[in-house]
Amino acid sequence: MICRNTLLAMFGLSVPLVLAACGPAGKAANPPGEPAATLEEEAPVDIELAKLMGDMQHHSAKLGYAIAGHNHPLATFYLEEVHEVLGELMTVEADDGMPIAHPAGVILEPALEALESKLAAKQSWSEISYQYELVIESCNRCHLATEHGFIEILPARGEPPFNQRFAAAEDLHLDRPVR
Ligand code: HEC
Repeated sequence: MICRNTLLAMFGLSVPLVLAACGPAGKAANPPGEPAATLEEEAPVDIELAKLMGDMQHHSAKLGYAIAGHNHPLATFYLEEVHEVLGELMTVEADDGMPIAHPAGVILEPALEALESKLAAKQSWSEISYQYELVIESCNRCHLATEHGFIEILPARGEPPFNQRFAAAEDLHLDRPVR
């Protein structure tokens, strides 16, 4: 399963080739009249989940940099993006027999909503930053719950690896480095 999922994610276009490579040696790939039925049913879900997670990572990293930059509109923007991805995640009932929507709703959603209300209420940046770390912790808690604890996400720190400014406009006047 891991072989198939990983390779599918990496080489989504060469599916039959990959399957043949992963299947038991000597086994005919698809008997005539039986196209890759299971593959067609399962593959899109796997690919979708990995892609959604990539989006999660991208948006939540930028969210962290926007919070570190005390940039309210930008943090609000990325938080909405993360929430949108969560909405898509909630449509994936299960993946590889592992429930996805349920743990996502129980683990990530409350942390995300708490951050949303703190940000909307313009609470202190240290309060918002702390809640952001709880959101990242909830990503990891869900990875543990879905047997992917080896995927460990860290709060965004240091120089952003993006060609984008995250600092709030008013911070431009300050001495600290502008990102
Ligand atoms: C439903 C629980 C769940 C939640 C919530 C969750 N993940 Fe995941 N994540 C998974 C599973 C399951 C996989 C493995 C997906 C696969 O098999 O392709 C994964 C894979 C990943 C990967 C590896 C794929 C890649 O693109 O490198 C990253 C990164 C990731 N998640 C980031 C996040 C971040 C960031 C958050 C929180 C904002 C998050 N995840 C929230 C379950 C979850």
